[in-house]
Amino acid sequence: MSELITDIGELTTQCGDRQRLHDAALVIDGSRVAWIGSAADAPAADIRTSVAGRAVLPGWVDSHSHLVFAGSRDAEFDARMAGRRYEAGGIATTVTATRGASEAMLLETATALRREAELQGTTFLETKTGYGLDVESECRSARVAASVADTVSFLGAHVVPAGIDRRDYLDLVTGPMLTAVVPYVQWIDAFCEVGAFDVEESREVLLAGLVAGLGLRLHGNQLGFSGGVELAVELGCASVDHCNHLSANDIDSLASSSTVATLLPACDLSTRQPLAPARLLLDAGAEIALASNCNPGSSYTTSVPFCIAVAVLQMGLTIDEAVWAATRGGARALGRDTGSDAVGSLRVGGRADLQVLDAPSVVHLAYRPGVPLTAAVWRGGIRTPPIVSGF
Ligand code: NIG
Repeated sequence: MSELITDIGELTTQCGDRQRLHDAALVIDGSRVAWIGSAADAPAADIRTSVAGRAVLPGWVDSHSHLVFAGSRDAEFDARMAGRRYEAGGIATTVTATRGASEAMLLETATALRREAELQGTTFLETKTGYGLDVESECRSARVAASVADTVSFLGAHVVPAGIDRRDYLDLVTGPMLTAVVPYVQWIDAFCEVGAFDVEESREVLLAGLVAGLGLRLHGNQLGFSGGVELAVELGCASVDHCNHLSANDIDSLASSSTVATLLPACDLSTRQPLAPARLLLDAGAEIALASNCNPGSSYTTSVPFCIAVAVLQMGLTIDEAVWAATRGGARALGRDTGSDAVGSLRVGGRADLQVLDAPSVVHLAYRPGVPLTAAVWRGGIRTPPIVSGF
């Protein structure tokens, strides 16, 4: 079954010179993009969908989320907005609730959040374990994650849970827990921060994951100069996430590495941390990604458009830079930028993961902040019902 999407007012493909194309059309055939060109030259297809001058672009690639959890931390958030500091220790609250929830409950919450994300244009999503923190609960979280997300990271090294010696916990994470989750995960991650794991502990965890065949990513430099960025670059991590506190040296080393700096503006606002230095990173030549970091503690939103608006309005990015960071940047952070399964771009033969905005241009993502603009989403060529009335 083929579908012609035509009368596109502005098409962002994220291929070639990054230009936005006008009066364009695109054909989907099955799960793939079959043709891209001028609307006047469009071939016939089984279905014809006119988007009447709206903007079309790749779906968001949300490269950092924590969707497998139970319970709420609204009281913690309330206290934070009244002046309390964000600390890694709040994770324990979610661990208790998550351990007490059934697998069906975890799946229901994660599925609802995934759906919420998709309705806002997210077509490819990473999620993590990290709120189980014992072998059985992490394994359960990994199973749930694998059934709702496109790619999964094992975050046993989130914090050391109560009731276990630190060394014993590290042995568990790098031993039986890792072995139990490996069938469900593609990545290993660690929270390299005061109150969580130091550089040497994070290195030990990541190297164990590497031996088990997993890709590497790291939470680093969120609450201070944790040394996470240096470690991520040294180990060749695909991504180092947060990056709120960066030295000039951190920025230079990211710029001369293949490690993507994944920035999480919704989390920065929700934790009242300084916004990550996106402009300095880009000016130095580093690759950045923007992601939601949806989780119940530090960033309870699935909205990538919100992150884009903040990145443009408050972090000094242009619209095109922010949209790139939430599509190709996310794909690079997940090692999915090239090859037949590449995401984050629209190219002939590539996955038909795209969205239509209820606006003539991607500019409106920051020009109309907070307004739901996702008019339609195709994921693998299959259309999701719209969230706003469109066409
Ligand atoms: O990426 N920083 C570590 N982990 C999550 C938040 C954890 C929490 O507070 O529940 C994050 O922000």
